[in-house]
Formats: sequence, C-alpha cells, structure tokens
Amino acid sequence: MNILIKEDDIKKRIKEIGREINIDYKNKNPVLIGVLKGAFMFLADLLKEIDVPVEIDFLGISSYTGTQSSGVVRITQDLSINIEDRDIILVEDIVDSGRTIDYIIKNLRTRNPRSIAVCTLLNKKDARVVEVPLTYVGFNIPRVFAIGYGLDYENKFRNLRNIGVYNAQ
Ligand code: IMP
Ligand code: MG
Repeated sequence: MNILIKEDDIKKRIKEIGREINIDYKNKNPVLIGVLKGAFMFLADLLKEIDVPVEIDFLGISSYTGTQSSGVVRITQDLSINIEDRDIILVEDIVDSGRTIDYIIKNLRTRNPRSIAVCTLLNKKDARVVEVPLTYVGFNIPRVFAIGYGLDYENKFRNLRNIGVYNAQ
C-alpha cells in the first residue's frame, strides 16, 4: 500500500473541520449522521472536535462491490431518530461518483429536516457523475482506490491508521 494521507495530517484536518462546524452551528444542535460503514472512524474523531450540543445517528448504505461503483444504492440500516426540523450534517468517508450522497440527500429530504450539509473526509472530484453540494471536504484526492481509516476494499483494511492506495496484485 502506498500512503496517501498520514494519520497526523488526517487528525490535523479534522480539527480544522471541527472548528468550522463549531462556528457554523453556534447556537444550533446538529445531528451528525454517519454513513456506514466507511465513515465510523471519521465520525468518531470529528465528534470529539465539536463543542456545540450534538447528537449522532447512523445510516447503513451499500453501494460497492470490489473497486467499482455498482450505481445501485441500498439502505441496509435506517436512522433511529426523527430528523424533522433538525440540522443534519451527513458524514461520509468519500464521495466518488456522487450517487450515494445524492441518493441519501433525496431520501433524507422527504423527512423534512431543517437543513442538510455534507461533510466528507475524501473527495474524488474528477470521478463525479452526479453533482452534489459538499459543505466540508477533508482532502481532494485523485481517482485511486483509497483504503484505511475506515475505508475498505471488500471489507478489509478499515483498521489502518493512514489512508493509502489499494494496489491489486
Ligand atoms: P459514490 O456513490 O460513487 O460517490 O461512492 C461512494 C461510496 O463508495 C463511499 O461511501 C464509499 O463507501 C465507496 N467508495 C468510493 N470510492 C472508494 C474508495 O476509493 N475506497 C473505498 N471506498 C470507496
Ligand atoms: Mg461509504
């Protein structure tokens, strides 16, 4: 694996995003919604940087097989709270084609939240098929397959501390 982003740089960037969120959501009570499974580690570290009253929930989504986006998005685990009139921050590990986040935004809108912002750790800008509004982006990366820090290849490598590029051998 070639390292793309080191643990220390991830931590530093998350602190910066946390500061932005604390300013943007001053006097608010946002809900961080982590997109499972990939975003669990990012959400945990981001949550520690937030000092406004915050709640969390998770949405289980399945959209990938191997390193190719199937384009078919499926909810495997739904929210456990009512998000009507709430300020939502969707927390994603990576936005690639944009299909997943587009599907999730459309789905969540039907539940009438007050606002929806998207916070993604990684952004593969050049891979975009569907335009999606991103409010907070950790790092823009090229069109490689990233693993580690929650991101998987076939459910492996989520435990790695650094983010790397998966090389199929
Ligand atoms: P999209 O629907 O094409 O934007 O893909 C988004 C989802 O696919 C993310 O939530 C990830 O779970 C997964 N994904 C996309 N690119 C990568 C990658 O480089 N490594 C690991 N997972 C990825
Ligand atoms: Mg994901």
